Amino acid sequence: MSKKLFIETLGCAMNVRDSEHMIAELNQKEPYEITENLKDADLIIINTCSVREKPVAKLFSEIGVFNKHKKPSAKIGVTGCTASHLGEEIIRRAPSVDFVLGARNVSKITEVVNKRHAVEVSTDFDESTYAFGEYRTNTFKAMVNISIGCDKSCTFCIVPATRGDEISIPSELIVQEIKKAVVTGAKEVMLLGQNVNNYGRRFGSTEEQCDFTQLLQKISKIEGLERIRFTSPHPLHMDDTFIQEFASNPKICKQIHVPLQSGSTSLLKEMKRGYTKENFINRCEKIRTLCPEATISTDIIVGFPGESDADFEDTMDVLEQVRFEQLFSFKYSPRPHTEAAEFDNQIDSAVAGARLTRLQARHTEILDEIMDAQLDAVHKVYFDELKPNGRVSGRSDDGKLFFVQGSEELLGKIVDVKVIKTSRGALDGVLV
Ligand code: SAH
Ligand code: F3S
Repeated sequence: MSKKLFIETLGCAMNVRDSEHMIAELNQKEPYEITENLKDADLIIINTCSVREKPVAKLFSEIGVFNKHKKPSAKIGVTGCTASHLGEEIIRRAPSVDFVLGARNVSKITEVVNKRHAVEVSTDFDESTYAFGEYRTNTFKAMVNISIGCDKSCTFCIVPATRGDEISIPSELIVQEIKKAVVTGAKEVMLLGQNVNNYGRRFGSTEEQCDFTQLLQKISKIEGLERIRFTSPHPLHMDDTFIQEFASNPKICKQIHVPLQSGSTSLLKEMKRGYTKENFINRCEKIRTLCPEATISTDIIVGFPGESDADFEDTMDVLEQVRFEQLFSFKYSPRPHTEAAEFDNQIDSAVAGARLTRLQARHTEILDEIMDAQLDAVHKVYFDELKPNGRVSGRSDDGKLFFVQGSEELLGKIVDVKVIKTSRGALDGVLV
């Protein structure tokens, strides 16, 4: 009987892919069956996020609960960004944890899994040419890393401290990995990096000249691959050449994440984001001009230190002007190893909370208008998941979530679908 693995993945898409990589590596040594039931597990992994404080605080209570309910012989591993930034402290505070593996050390999972109290958290370890084993949660859609780490120093963000300096993965390896996924059924790839359009600024042990636009061009030549998505790009690196490629390359899905963080030029400066309110709006306008069908999503932080009412109004103004289809909004959370945590003009939590509520309420209205206008529209939907009650789900090229009545025959197919019912989060459709 194979051993059972319970793995909880928190945080971003990069963590989801790191979990797949760990499963692949473990499986190469001895097969593991994934279980949703903690009590059955021989190995428990918590793949953590440390971008905001709350999930970190939750980690230790969760370890306690897991320790109480697990089989006595089961091991617990803490991996990911919180592992990187707390390291040995995790074992000191929770001795029931067997090993700690940082976000930049995923390839070492088989080394630490049988070593009591092993801690591997170095952030200068170069995994950029490591050939991971194959494991994909969804065979129709592949996630592929194109870079590791992040070279920016946004003053609110802990990621550079947990994932280290940015290194691009050689384009040949990326293309190889996508080809492998296409052979096993993937028509769509999601390219992953903390700052994808900074691709090619630095490679590790190899020498190569290839920027993000050129990488997209190489990838789009892969036969059998029909859709390319990527997350997350940085507004600062959205030059015209890149936007033109985005707009004109038919394989690139017309959905783009343009993380704003704040609409106030002075706060953007404090955040060290490298662009102004006007630059940001200009990039979104360029996208809309060259590619009117594109949907734009964003990340916004409210209550960053020193945020005045006027600063926040600037953020609301960008929301009105760009009308983001999707908004991921957060209350600022001071993080260790970040500059902004030391700023002496922290904002009252209730003020930040009220701003967040207002921002989200206005976005909801905008989203409702956008979705209502979708009635009777026809989209090409790529179906990738069976749902209960005879339904199948998939996404349109521009990233909208669709549900139709259907069976597994639809899985892996791209089909024209007409919208028959709209709601905030998803659209119901029929095949046409
Ligand atoms: N470039 C990364 C960003 C990682 S963090 C990416 O690929 O997504 C994801 C988002 O979390 C950021 O865009 C930001 O909006 C939010 N975030 C980061 N640090 C934060 C903090 N200290 N408080 C609140 N939100 C934060
Ligand atoms: Fe974080 Fe800024 Fe990099 S948000 S991940 S430091 S681009």
